[in-house]
Amino acid sequence: MTIYCVGSINADHFYDVPHIPAPGETLAGANFRIGLGGKGANQSVAAAKAGAEVVHIGAVGADGAWAVERLSALGVGTDHILTVEEPTAHAIINVAADGENAIVIYSGANLCQSEDEIAAALKSAKPGDRLILQNEASLQVEAAQMAKAAGLEVIYSAAPFSTEAVEAILPHTDILVVNDVEAAQLSESLNVDVADLPVKGMLVTRGADGADFIAPGDVTHVDAHQVTPVDTTGAGDTFLGYFVAGLDQGMSVADAMGLASAAGALKVTRPGTADAIPSRKDVEAFRA
Ligand SMILES: Nc1ncnc2c1ncn2[C@@H]1O[C@H](COP(=O)(O)OP(=O)(O)O)[C@@H](O)[C@H]1O
Ligand SMILES: [Mg+2]
Repeated sequence: MTIYCVGSINADHFYDVPHIPAPGETLAGANFRIGLGGKGANQSVAAAKAGAEVVHIGAVGADGAWAVERLSALGVGTDHILTVEEPTAHAIINVAADGENAIVIYSGANLCQSEDEIAAALKSAKPGDRLILQNEASLQVEAAQMAKAAGLEVIYSAAPFSTEAVEAILPHTDILVVNDVEAAQLSESLNVDVADLPVKGMLVTRGADGADFIAPGDVTHVDAHQVTPVDTTGAGDTFLGYFVAGLDQGMSVADAMGLASAAGALKVTRPGTADAIPSRKDVEAFRA
């Protein structure tokens, strides 16, 4: 089956700084590096590395050809990534000597999704395929509606968290995905227990405390592996991509979570975002 992802593609620009700049201060950054990131791209890469057939639907600017090439090299289908007039979304990530960071994100092309392009991509979708969505790109509700009409299962990551966004998409969502911070924001803003939300399943990832898949009357828990984390960026995206790929490959929820937990643990031992997502081979070796 195929996993479609309508999602963000970001160029992450990292700079090491002695401390986070104060208002009015100018600082020299060191060790400049650019990496592929964005929750959408990360999730697509994770699912592809897990072995799934993945079609990414998104947009970059004229400056984003390298990101599309990188996605393609990492195994993601890129035929439905548009080049638009806005620049490619990017993040300016200042990393201080004490590990603290300060991030500015410009969403640019991520907010220029095209309904026609989503429809064109989903034209070849079949019932049993899946659509993954996060809250960093435009047209999420439209994409979810099109996918539901075509018989796809819709999986939505409520991140970055927005009450309005989650309320709008919930009626078109089968599996809602949050980390523990977002779970708290969700239950506070909607004034419900997350276990009572009207979805088929709810995946709550809890960092070093593992993850729970909550279905009506049934909770599946997976423990986290014990590792020494060096960079937890993208852990949730890695977990999600591997989890959905596991389901796509016919695994039970428990087995898919076991696979995803190992992938997430391995990710946090590596610095970086999309490029640091572990291969299926490395994940299997880590589990063995
Ligand atoms: N410190 C850690 N040790 C082991 N596994 C981790 C660690 N942090 C994250 N993971 C794995 O990655 C998953 C997702 O991480 P989490 O922090 O919940 O997501 P997010 O990146 O969205 O904040 C966890 O459920 C766990 O399986
Ligand atoms: Mg976390």
